[in-house]
Amino acid sequence: MSSLESKLATKLTDLGVSRAEDVSALFAEVHARFESEASAARDEASWKLFRDAWLGRKSGVLTLVTDNWLKPATPEYKRVVGAELNKLRGHVEAQIEARRVEIEGGADEAALARERVDLSLPGVTRAVGSHHLIRQVFQQIEDIFVSIGFSVVEGPEIETPYFNFEALNIPEFHPVRDDMDTFYLQLPKGAPTPLLLRTHTSPMQIRTMEKRQPPVRVIVPGKVYRRDNPDATHSFAFHQVEGLAVDSDITFCDFTGTIEYFVKQFFGPGVKTRFRPSYFPFTEPSVEFDVTCVFCGGSGVSAGGGTCSKCKGAGWIELFGAGMVDPAVYGFVGYDPKKVSGFAFGIGIDRLAMLKYGIDDIQVFFQSDVRFLRQFP
Ligand code: PHE
Repeated sequence: MSSLESKLATKLTDLGVSRAEDVSALFAEVHARFESEASAARDEASWKLFRDAWLGRKSGVLTLVTDNWLKPATPEYKRVVGAELNKLRGHVEAQIEARRVEIEGGADEAALARERVDLSLPGVTRAVGSHHLIRQVFQQIEDIFVSIGFSVVEGPEIETPYFNFEALNIPEFHPVRDDMDTFYLQLPKGAPTPLLLRTHTSPMQIRTMEKRQPPVRVIVPGKVYRRDNPDATHSFAFHQVEGLAVDSDITFCDFTGTIEYFVKQFFGPGVKTRFRPSYFPFTEPSVEFDVTCVFCGGSGVSAGGGTCSKCKGAGWIELFGAGMVDPAVYGFVGYDPKKVSGFAFGIGIDRLAMLKYGIDDIQVFFQSDVRFLRQFP
């Protein structure tokens, strides 16, 4: 303990004070200590410690002086000790407050300096992106179908086998499941149903019909997955737009007319369409829609005179699968197959975009290479 501290804990009589000057000398010592500590309080934290050391109720210096020097003082010293203590208290309180004001001002200044905005610095330019080409094509397709009364719905990419297969009339051992081999999720033991990444947007036919009563006219843009090895025309993830129209009196003519209208809106009035018989378990009859080759105009001959490499001379390009909704499907969603009819189609968007924009590798859609993306602002 420093000598001042031990003095503060000791009564004046025990300190051997015998003259008024001894009292003044003691207080001078206290004042000196105060000044040196005051100059050390430079920030808020040290100022608080400083304040408590002097004004703290229990063991602050002023309390010690009051308890140990003033209270037990003999009557002859009480007045002089009281006067010195008052002087000390006045000084200490005023100085501590003054330090506080100084430190706060300094903190403000420091904050101002820290947050100063340098107007001479060049700004940060953030490049404005654009929609991915696939997104743009989705948008074009949505606009066309919305203009003829369809609405847009979206559905989950993780599906149950029921929606992806069974309710679409594809029972467990049906051979078309091989074409739609996909990714199954690893689930904890005892999970109620397997889950898979949907292989097509067709499950949304079921989900939509379960929720709505006819008339139904929806398109479903979305991402789909198959266990394919990547090459210029295959990717394990790709995009489709599903279409479904069900009402009391929809005919095959409504179906082909709608498709034809869409294709001409999308590729331009010059293209022709045709359909060929095909097979899907959930449509009957099923067709494959072709469009005249947009590269050679349907002639099969390239601009240079040789065989058109895009349609391989056929003049036609296969566009998408479609058909009249198989009555069996209505059974899964509680529609009466005798009262309703309708059509469905599934457009491969990547392929459509490749045709329209002359892109020959599907992989560029998934590589996020801005040199490619910037060409479609
Ligand atoms: N879902 C089918 C596919 O992905 C396409 C399709 C959709 C066919 C709707 C008919 C009706 O191959």
